[in-house]
Amino acid sequence: MIVKDKIIVALDVPKELQAREIIAQLKNEVGGFKIGLQLFTAVGGSFVREMAKARVKIFLDLKYHDIPNTVAKAAVEAARLGVWMFNVHISGGSEMMLRAVDDMRETCEKERIIEPKILGVTVLTSSNETTLQEVGIKNKTTEQVMKLAHLASKCGLDGVVASPLEVSMIRNEIENKRFMIVTPGIRPPQNSKNLKIDPNDDQKRTMTPSEAIRAGSDYLVIGRPILKSKDVVSSVREIIQDIENPSEDSPDAKILEFSKQN
Ligand code: C5P
Repeated sequence: MIVKDKIIVALDVPKELQAREIIAQLKNEVGGFKIGLQLFTAVGGSFVREMAKARVKIFLDLKYHDIPNTVAKAAVEAARLGVWMFNVHISGGSEMMLRAVDDMRETCEKERIIEPKILGVTVLTSSNETTLQEVGIKNKTTEQVMKLAHLASKCGLDGVVASPLEVSMIRNEIENKRFMIVTPGIRPPQNSKNLKIDPNDDQKRTMTPSEAIRAGSDYLVIGRPILKSKDVVSSVREIIQDIENPSEDSPDAKILEFSKQN
C-alpha cells in the first residue's frame, strides 16, 4: 500500500461546507476521511451516503456501544450508507460484536453491498490508567487493550482502533496477520514545519506518524494537527515525507528498511 493511502483525515468540523472543502483539498492526497460524532450529529447520514457514492472512502466513527440488537441494526445501516469502515466498542461484549458482524454480513450478501470493515475500539487514546480506574477497571492499560483486541479477533472483527503505543504488541500477539490496526493519537514531531502542535492536547498515548507506521500501524487517523494547521495540503505532504524518509542515520530508518524487505 502506498503511504498516502495510510492516512485518514478526521473530519472533526461542525459544518458540512467545511467538510466538503477539506475533502476537495485532500481527496487525492490521502486514503480516506473519518466522520465522527460531531459531523455526523450535525449533518446526518445523507452526507455520508453522498460521499460514499462519489467514491470518497469514509470511516464512520460512531463507536457503537449498546444492546446487541440495537448495535446490529446500526451496523446494517452503516453498511447501507456505503461506508468503507465503521466501529463498535469492544467493551460492549462478544454477543454485541457477533450480532453486528453476522447481521451486517447477511445484509450485504442479500443486498449486494460491498462489506465494510468492522473495527473494534480498544481503550481510547485519551484514556490512561487513571481513567480506567475511575470506571472500575483495574487492569493496566496495555493489559486491557490486549484483552479487548483478542476478544475482537475472536468475534470476527476486521481489526481494532488502538493507540500507536500498543500496535507492536497487538501485531505480535494476534495470529490473524490481516488484522487491521488503525491508530489515532498521532502527534507531529517537535520540529514540524506545518503541523499544529498543541501543548494542551487531550491525547495521552501518542506517537509521530513515522513512529506509528514503523510500529506496524496500517492506517493513521489524524485530526487537529492537520485541520488546525495553516495549510492542510502541506501538512499532509509533510506527514508523507516524514514516513517515507526518516533521516538515514536514525535507528528508525533501519527498522523501516527491514520492514520493507520483509
Ligand atoms: O484531532 P485528533 O488527531 O486527536 O483526532 C483523533 C480522532 O480520532 C478524533 O476524531 C477521535 O474521536 C478519534 N479517536 C480517538 N481515539 C480512539 C478512537 C477514535 O482519538 N480510540
